[in-house]
Amino acid sequence: MQIEQIFKNNEKWIADKLALDKDYFKKLSEGQNPEILYIGCSDSRVTAEEIMGVQPGEVFVHRNIANLVNNVDLSVMSVLNFAVRQLNVKHIIVCGHYYCGGVKAAMKAEDLGILNPWLRNIRDVYRMYKDELNAITDETLRYNRLVELNVQEQCINLIKTAAVQQAYKQRNLTVHGWVFDIHSGKLIDLKINLPEILSNIMEIYSLE
Ligand code: CO
Repeated sequence: MQIEQIFKNNEKWIADKLALDKDYFKKLSEGQNPEILYIGCSDSRVTAEEIMGVQPGEVFVHRNIANLVNNVDLSVMSVLNFAVRQLNVKHIIVCGHYYCGGVKAAMKAEDLGILNPWLRNIRDVYRMYKDELNAITDETLRYNRLVELNVQEQCINLIKTAAVQQAYKQRNLTVHGWVFDIHSGKLIDLKINLPEILSNIMEIYSLE
Protein backbone atom coordinates (compact mmCIF):
# COMPACT_ATOMS: atom_id res chain seq x y z
CA MET A 1 0.00 0.00 0.00
CA GLN A 2 1.46 3.31 -1.12
CA ILE A 3 0.68 6.23 1.16
CA GLU A 4 -0.03 8.44 -1.91
CA GLN A 5 -2.71 5.95 -2.91
CA ILE A 6 -4.60 6.66 0.30
CA PHE A 7 -5.02 10.32 -0.68
CA LYS A 8 -6.22 9.26 -4.13
CA ASN A 9 -8.69 6.87 -2.49
CA ASN A 10 -9.86 9.72 -0.28
CA GLU A 11 -10.54 11.98 -3.29
CA LYS A 12 -12.56 9.22 -4.92
CA TRP A 13 -14.50 8.59 -1.72
CA ILE A 14 -15.38 12.29 -1.45
CA ALA A 15 -16.56 12.34 -5.08
CA ASP A 16 -18.66 9.18 -4.56
CA LYS A 17 -20.34 10.59 -1.46
CA LEU A 18 -21.05 13.96 -3.10
CA ALA A 19 -22.47 12.26 -6.17
CA LEU A 20 -25.12 10.66 -3.95
CA ASP A 21 -25.72 13.71 -1.75
CA LYS A 22 -24.12 17.09 -2.37
CA ASP A 23 -24.71 18.04 1.29
CA TYR A 24 -23.17 14.82 2.65
CA PHE A 25 -20.20 16.42 4.41
CA LYS A 26 -22.18 19.46 5.50
CA LYS A 27 -24.58 17.08 7.30
CA LEU A 28 -21.71 15.05 8.79
CA SER A 29 -20.16 18.24 10.17
CA GLU A 30 -23.35 19.12 12.04
CA GLY A 31 -22.79 16.44 14.69
CA GLN A 32 -23.04 12.78 15.56
CA ASN A 33 -25.84 10.77 17.06
CA PRO A 34 -24.67 7.15 17.03
CA GLU A 35 -26.83 4.58 18.79
CA ILE A 36 -24.06 2.00 19.06
CA LEU A 37 -20.72 1.84 20.85
CA TYR A 38 -18.45 -0.80 19.32
CA ILE A 39 -15.42 -2.08 21.22
CA GLY A 40 -13.27 -4.32 19.05
CA CYS A 41 -9.74 -5.51 18.38
CA SER A 42 -7.12 -3.36 16.65
CA ASP A 43 -6.44 -6.25 14.25
CA SER A 44 -6.24 -4.86 10.69
CA ARG A 45 -8.50 -7.64 9.42
CA VAL A 46 -11.39 -6.75 11.71
CA THR A 47 -12.56 -3.37 10.43
CA ALA A 48 -15.48 -2.22 12.51
CA GLU A 49 -17.61 -0.31 9.99
CA GLU A 50 -16.94 -2.51 6.99
CA ILE A 51 -17.91 -5.83 8.60
CA MET A 52 -21.11 -4.27 9.97
CA GLY A 53 -21.95 -2.39 6.77
CA VAL A 54 -22.48 0.88 8.61
CA GLN A 55 -21.84 4.46 7.52
CA PRO A 56 -19.94 7.33 9.14
CA GLY A 57 -21.95 8.71 12.04
CA GLU A 58 -23.65 5.43 12.94
CA VAL A 59 -21.19 3.78 15.34
CA PHE A 60 -18.88 5.15 18.03
CA VAL A 61 -15.75 3.00 17.90
CA HIS A 62 -12.99 1.99 20.28
CA ARG A 63 -10.37 -0.57 19.32
CA ASN A 64 -7.47 -2.00 21.29
CA ILE A 65 -5.47 -5.22 21.36
CA ALA A 66 -7.87 -8.11 22.09
CA ASN A 67 -10.91 -5.82 22.71
CA LEU A 68 -10.34 -5.42 26.43
CA VAL A 69 -12.52 -3.36 28.74
CA ASN A 70 -9.91 -2.67 31.36
CA ASN A 71 -11.11 -0.82 34.42
CA VAL A 72 -7.89 1.24 34.74
CA ASP A 73 -7.43 2.00 31.04
CA LEU A 74 -8.22 5.70 30.77
CA SER A 75 -8.80 5.44 27.04
CA VAL A 76 -11.52 2.77 27.02
CA MET A 77 -13.12 4.20 30.18
CA SER A 78 -13.27 7.69 28.61
CA VAL A 79 -14.84 6.30 25.44
CA LEU A 80 -17.34 4.31 27.49
CA ASN A 81 -18.35 7.21 29.72
CA PHE A 82 -18.71 9.61 26.79
CA ALA A 83 -20.73 7.13 24.74
CA VAL A 84 -23.08 6.20 27.60
CA ARG A 85 -23.45 9.53 29.38
CA GLN A 86 -23.19 12.07 26.54
CA LEU A 87 -24.13 10.23 23.36
CA ASN A 88 -26.70 8.06 25.16
CA VAL A 89 -25.97 5.02 23.01
CA LYS A 90 -28.57 2.26 23.15
CA HIS A 91 -26.24 -0.66 22.46
CA ILE A 92 -22.70 -1.54 23.46
CA ILE A 93 -21.04 -4.27 21.45
CA VAL A 94 -17.87 -6.06 22.47
CA CYS A 95 -16.62 -7.81 19.35
CA GLY A 96 -13.77 -10.29 19.58
CA HIS A 97 -12.49 -12.38 16.71
CA TYR A 98 -11.18 -15.87 16.11
CA TYR A 99 -7.45 -15.99 15.26
CA CYS A 100 -6.84 -13.04 17.60
CA GLY A 101 -3.08 -12.54 18.01
CA GLY A 102 -3.56 -10.94 21.43
CA VAL A 103 -5.46 -13.94 22.76
CA LYS A 104 -2.94 -16.32 21.18
CA ALA A 105 -0.04 -14.46 22.82
CA ALA A 106 -1.77 -14.74 26.20
CA MET A 107 -1.80 -18.52 25.83
CA LYS A 108 2.00 -18.70 25.55
CA ALA A 109 4.71 -18.65 28.21
CA GLU A 110 6.58 -15.66 26.80
CA ASP A 111 7.78 -12.26 28.05
CA LEU A 112 6.22 -9.62 25.79
CA GLY A 113 7.39 -6.53 27.68
CA ILE A 114 4.78 -3.76 27.93
CA LEU A 115 2.18 -6.15 26.56
CA ASN A 116 2.51 -8.34 29.68
CA PRO A 117 0.15 -6.32 31.91
CA TRP A 118 -2.29 -5.83 29.04
CA LEU A 119 -2.45 -9.50 28.09
CA ARG A 120 -2.53 -10.47 31.76
CA ASN A 121 -6.23 -9.62 31.62
CA ILE A 122 -6.71 -12.51 29.19
CA ARG A 123 -4.61 -14.86 31.32
CA ASP A 124 -7.00 -14.01 34.17
CA VAL A 125 -9.93 -15.04 31.98
CA TYR A 126 -8.10 -18.30 31.26
CA ARG A 127 -7.60 -18.87 34.98
CA MET A 128 -11.31 -18.35 35.71
CA TYR A 129 -12.31 -20.91 33.05
CA LYS A 130 -9.25 -23.16 33.34
CA ASP A 131 -11.21 -26.39 33.83
CA GLU A 132 -13.48 -25.79 30.84
CA LEU A 133 -10.60 -24.69 28.60
CA ASN A 134 -8.18 -27.44 29.58
CA ALA A 135 -10.87 -30.03 28.86
CA ILE A 136 -10.81 -28.96 25.18
CA THR A 137 -8.08 -31.09 23.62
CA ASP A 138 -8.07 -29.47 20.17
CA GLU A 139 -5.82 -26.43 20.48
CA THR A 140 -7.66 -24.32 17.88
CA LEU A 141 -11.01 -25.00 19.53
CA ARG A 142 -9.55 -24.12 22.92
CA TYR A 143 -8.14 -20.90 21.47
CA ASN A 144 -11.52 -20.04 19.91
CA ARG A 145 -13.29 -20.71 23.18
CA LEU A 146 -10.91 -18.39 25.02
CA VAL A 147 -11.74 -15.69 22.43
CA GLU A 148 -15.45 -16.16 23.28
CA LEU A 149 -14.91 -16.22 27.05
CA ASN A 150 -12.77 -13.11 26.78
CA VAL A 151 -15.65 -11.30 25.04
CA GLN A 152 -18.02 -12.48 27.78
CA GLU A 153 -15.72 -11.22 30.54
CA GLN A 154 -15.29 -7.85 28.82
CA CYS A 155 -19.10 -7.54 28.66
CA ILE A 156 -19.16 -8.21 32.39
CA ASN A 157 -16.44 -5.59 32.86
CA LEU A 158 -18.72 -3.05 31.18
CA ILE A 159 -21.38 -3.76 33.76
CA LYS A 160 -18.94 -3.25 36.59
CA THR A 161 -18.85 0.47 35.70
CA ALA A 162 -21.11 3.08 37.27
CA ALA A 163 -21.95 4.60 33.86
CA VAL A 164 -23.40 1.34 32.55
CA GLN A 165 -25.13 0.42 35.83
CA GLN A 166 -26.93 3.77 35.95
CA ALA A 167 -27.90 3.69 32.27
CA TYR A 168 -29.19 0.13 32.72
CA LYS A 169 -31.61 1.31 35.40
CA GLN A 170 -32.61 4.63 33.86
CA ARG A 171 -33.09 3.78 30.20
CA ASN A 172 -32.74 1.21 27.46
CA LEU A 173 -29.15 0.00 27.16
CA THR A 174 -28.15 -3.44 25.94
CA VAL A 175 -24.72 -5.05 26.03
CA HIS A 176 -23.90 -7.53 23.26
CA GLY A 177 -21.01 -9.98 22.96
CA TRP A 178 -20.04 -10.89 19.41
CA VAL A 179 -17.25 -12.73 17.65
CA PHE A 180 -16.10 -12.10 14.10
CA ASP A 181 -15.01 -15.29 12.36
CA ILE A 182 -12.23 -14.23 10.01
CA HIS A 183 -12.33 -17.63 8.32
CA SER A 184 -15.92 -17.18 7.08
CA GLY A 185 -16.49 -13.43 7.43
CA LYS A 186 -19.45 -14.09 9.73
CA LEU A 187 -20.42 -12.01 12.74
CA ILE A 188 -21.61 -14.35 15.48
CA ASP A 189 -23.82 -13.21 18.36
CA LEU A 190 -22.66 -15.17 21.42
CA LYS A 191 -26.10 -14.54 22.96
CA ILE A 192 -24.55 -14.02 26.36
CA ASN A 193 -27.24 -14.12 29.02
CA LEU A 194 -26.11 -11.02 30.84
CA PRO A 195 -29.21 -10.57 33.05
CA GLU A 196 -28.54 -14.05 34.47
CA ILE A 197 -24.81 -13.40 34.95
CA LEU A 198 -25.62 -10.07 36.56
CA SER A 199 -28.05 -11.54 39.03
CA ASN A 200 -25.17 -13.62 40.36
CA ILE A 201 -22.55 -10.88 40.61
CA MET A 202 -24.30 -7.58 41.29
CA GLU A 203 -24.13 -8.07 45.05
CA ILE A 204 -20.38 -7.66 44.59
CA TYR A 205 -20.16 -5.04 41.86
CA SER A 206 -23.11 -2.74 42.50
CA LEU A 207 -21.99 0.86 42.86
CA GLU A 208 -25.39 2.20 43.87
CO1 CO B 1 -7.30 -9.51 17.85
